[in-house]
Amino acid sequence: MIYLMGIDIGTTGVKTLVLDEKGKVITSITEEYPLYTPKPNWAEQKPDHWWKATVQTIKKTLRKVKPAKIAAIGLSGQMHGSVFLDKDYKVLRPCILWCDQRTAKECYQITKIIGEEKLIKLTCNPALTGFTAGKIIWVRNNEPEVYEKIHKILLPKDYIRFCLTGQFATEVSDASGTLLFNVRNRKWSDEILNELSISKELLPECFESTIISGKISGSAAKRTGLLEGTPVVGGGGDQAAQSVGSGIVKPGIISTTIGTSGVVFAFAEEVKTDPHGRVHTFCHAVPGKWHVMGVMLQAGGSLRWFRDNFYPGESYDVLMKKAEKIPPGSEGLIFLPYLTGERTPHADPYARGVFFGLTLRHTKTHMLRAVLEGVSYGMRDSLEIIKGMRINVNQIRTSGGGAKSKSWRQIQTDINGVKTLTINATEGAAYGAAILAGAGIKVFHSVESACDEIIKVTGETKPIKQNSDIYDEYYRVYRTLYGNLKDNFKHLSSI
Ligand code: XUL
Repeated sequence: MIYLMGIDIGTTGVKTLVLDEKGKVITSITEEYPLYTPKPNWAEQKPDHWWKATVQTIKKTLRKVKPAKIAAIGLSGQMHGSVFLDKDYKVLRPCILWCDQRTAKECYQITKIIGEEKLIKLTCNPALTGFTAGKIIWVRNNEPEVYEKIHKILLPKDYIRFCLTGQFATEVSDASGTLLFNVRNRKWSDEILNELSISKELLPECFESTIISGKISGSAAKRTGLLEGTPVVGGGGDQAAQSVGSGIVKPGIISTTIGTSGVVFAFAEEVKTDPHGRVHTFCHAVPGKWHVMGVMLQAGGSLRWFRDNFYPGESYDVLMKKAEKIPPGSEGLIFLPYLTGERTPHADPYARGVFFGLTLRHTKTHMLRAVLEGVSYGMRDSLEIIKGMRINVNQIRTSGGGAKSKSWRQIQTDINGVKTLTINATEGAAYGAAILAGAGIKVFHSVESACDEIIKVTGETKPIKQNSDIYDEYYRVYRTLYGNLKDNFKHLSSI
């Protein structure tokens, strides 16, 4: 039997798993690390914490599977983060994460230099605060002493690749989220790099996601217990890898994933862009294909915030049971989930969370249900944009923490008014990364055929018409709230 390892450098922790060639998970280990918020709306992590946690999880998985049996490794990770290394390959400052919102000025600067139309033409996306380019320019503007020492800029999983293999490399799906990448032609954009005066030398070489980008080095073998020379394939940004792990590798199949962020992800045979830049168009981890996705910044994150502050120590299962007691629509209470600003559909770092419609009748439990519904309305925003781009939606597959609860699945299904399917593969991005490793060394003929063989539908949730009708009414109100509050949000954050 051949075994494949997938490693996902997530926001809350790293997950390392091993699966066999039939897709069965043999072992899966997670290790957490902290996230730092030195200022409101900033989010940073220490790359060294990722590496230490990765080493621990690899060691633990190797208690179950002999190192010589691991035929290949695939990497996945939180996207858009920036790891800056000096000439001695030392990390220069903490990594600025995907959900950090400090770069509003830099995004404005980038758009002014390049022009919005040209930016969308070349990178397929507008300048958003989450993307990497703004972070690089922020360091140049605010920490010039750091900037001048930069020798390499890596995405989170590619820093771990460097630790494992000694190679500087990335792959197309993660590179797409830097805003320095020509998504249509699947290569770094010389034009954007020149206009922003960022040297291409600072960036790693870019491959398709299934290509072997390096091999486990002698020192990494000593540290982790892996065999020296084990191949490491490109892998994918966590959303692309997650979607491979959910079988989103063909037209018509869409996934909705609620982790910290909330993502609606659609496969695309060719490049499709939203002229307003509300959803992202990135290269898929499937060679030669693309994807379109809407990203909410605080989906599961909103529920975690509510739990931590209003039901500290309570389990999500208990919360879901409580929320079931409140009728659909929370008796007129609507939550806007913009706790760290929002990406899709508003691209607004100044947006804030709101409970709208509070009355004396409302209780803490109404607020809890309103959070679950508000996040689901936000996911519907992305779905509506994707449908508007004439992307077929024949099937919605749901995964991540938000898919575990039957009642939250029902809320999402009722709000979207479309049947939702669950699948057998529940290990997310690490699972997809292991499939990419298998395709890279030809254990699988292709990513698509691997997904066909391994990933099966296990259940379905049908919309309840009566609930969908109620939600349609409330969704209409939800959609107008942001527009009405936009200026107030900006004013509030300027005080
Ligand atoms: C995708 C995105 C997040 C992060 C963290 O664009 O920003 O989903 O990758 O998971």
